[in-house]
Amino acid sequence: MTYKTEQEMFWAGEFGDEYIGRNPVENDLAARTALFSRILARTNGVRSLVEFGANIGKNLRTIHHMFPGMGLSAIEINEKAVEELRKWGEAKVYHSSILDFSLDYPRDFSLVCGVLIHMNPDALPAVYDLLFEASSRYICVIEYYNPSPVEIPYRGHSGRLFKRDFAGEIMDRFPGVRLVDYGFVYHRDNNFPLDDLTWFLLEKK
Ligand SMILES: C[S@@+](CC[C@H](N)C(=O)[O-])C[C@H]1O[C@@H](n2cnc3c(N)ncnc32)[C@H](O)[C@@H]1O
Repeated sequence: MTYKTEQEMFWAGEFGDEYIGRNPVENDLAARTALFSRILARTNGVRSLVEFGANIGKNLRTIHHMFPGMGLSAIEINEKAVEELRKWGEAKVYHSSILDFSLDYPRDFSLVCGVLIHMNPDALPAVYDLLFEASSRYICVIEYYNPSPVEIPYRGHSGRLFKRDFAGEIMDRFPGVRLVDYGFVYHRDNNFPLDDLTWFLLEKK
């Protein structure tokens, strides 16, 4: 496959393959359950959800456990991750870059977690548009926050990790989108540690 950005090649290739080995399914199921119970407690009537950059489906598996009837979809660039998602079999899987994905129909909830931080910053406006179009109601962004855009080294690589106020930029871009709730997950949490993630639940008016 050919990609528009270096960051896509990075995740589609060897680095993305090795990421799967470092992050097995069973690793942080309880912590993700704690996180998604906080987020999904603030929603109502979500029947379908799409995750952009789902990897092997750790978020989707957690959500499936909590809401077995919810229709789940996954967009993922890495072939090995896609194989794992298909083996699991509980989500509609699209093997595609987010930047090439053409939306078939909107879901109730669009989710992105630990993915915007790894995308080429120039591509973000298009991704924001997709997150918006992909949802009829809720948009959830779970990323590393920084008030202004910064790049930080990622496992010895440059140009692969960026922090900024992704959710704020989405609200600026779409004035009809309001903040429902937000929160932080601390890597030293006593019971449910995850990476230092900030989550934002947004709703389309
Ligand atoms: C840090 S992982 C996060 C995975 C998952 N969202 C989670 O929270 O466990 C980033 C994921 O996004 C995928 N990804 C990165 N860029 C992508 C793109 N342009 N299109 C689709 N998937 C992408 C990677 O292959 C990887 O699976």
